[in-house]
Amino acid sequence: MVKRKEAVEVKAVDLAVEGESVEKKMEKELEDLPGVGPATADKLRKAGYDNMEKIATSSAHELEEVADISIETAKKVINAARDALEMGYESADKIYERRKAVGRITTGSDSLNELLGGGVETQSITEAYGRFGSGKTQIGFQLAVNVQKPAGEGGLGGNVLYVDTEGTFRPERIRQIAEGAGMDADEVLRNIHVARAVNSDHQIVLVDKADEVVKEKNVKLVVIDSLTSCFRAEYLGRAALGERQQKLNKHIHALQRLADRHNLAVFVTNQVMDNPGILFGDPTTPIGGHVLAHAATYRIYLRKGKEEKRIARLVDSPNLPESECVFKVTKEGIRD
Ligand code: GTP
Ligand code: MG
Repeated sequence: MVKRKEAVEVKAVDLAVEGESVEKKMEKELEDLPGVGPATADKLRKAGYDNMEKIATSSAHELEEVADISIETAKKVINAARDALEMGYESADKIYERRKAVGRITTGSDSLNELLGGGVETQSITEAYGRFGSGKTQIGFQLAVNVQKPAGEGGLGGNVLYVDTEGTFRPERIRQIAEGAGMDADEVLRNIHVARAVNSDHQIVLVDKADEVVKEKNVKLVVIDSLTSCFRAEYLGRAALGERQQKLNKHIHALQRLADRHNLAVFVTNQVMDNPGILFGDPTTPIGGHVLAHAATYRIYLRKGKEEKRIARLVDSPNLPESECVFKVTKEGIRD
């Protein structure tokens, strides 16, 4: 399972490197898959499955549902797409090569950067969870400004897709942070492309259809603030939990694919709840359960300290120790 995922990631980067012509070619080839006529291809594309890679990494039930094809055909289509992409093992040196392309965005705080191994990484999902006012949205704003700085100055010289699900995007605050960074505030705002997601389905579509705008606008950072609020509000009770987690899982994988294909960073915020099962210690638990816990590459838990101070704890990372740091939310933005 894990090995296959790695192989997919490598392929994704190969695609990104080889550029548009290859992707265009693959798009045309959708019809070449067994059982895919022009009508089915059309349905697949409309549902956001517009290239081989998306099909290769989907499940048969998924395609059955969105493209209205039989489960047998769906299986055949997926296998054919996987063959076409030669998805299998890849040597580790190629993966290493891909990792070398990873870029980092400064958070504005050296200690927070250090906690994250040098800043917020591309090809990864970074999740910040914590109570209200803990600084989740502020970090999203700061990253949306900083990613626009040139490489070498803590940015990636790229633009931003910002999905706002809580109605808390504030251009005034972005201006303040941009000015605090000595940047042209008007220019900074022009490079942030904001969508207000009205519900979880809308949120999913915004990500599934993001490829084109990502390429067109040279997007290097995708912010989802928050990842879970729509899902949490819409799927209530235990009976809906399975469906919610399934949808959330797919959504997160779509985000990871976006991050891989375009070598961009994904930053998501998450709400918390009190887990009554935890009798000793901090009962604060992120929403999203195991699905999210295993999907985010870096998870940071934010707590409010005195005044401007915030405490960040790195909770989960593949290659960094669990540790804490202190940073500040100031008028100018995130600082040490
Ligand atoms: P929810 O979205 O409510 O769950 O919280 P959040 O974690 O997203 O909170 P957010 O990141 O929006 O942090 C809000 C906090 O940032 C405020 O309570 C302030 O403490 C701080 N903040 C926002 N703007 C300013 C500012 O201009 N100056 C200073 N010093 N602090 C600010
Ligand atoms: Mg917020």
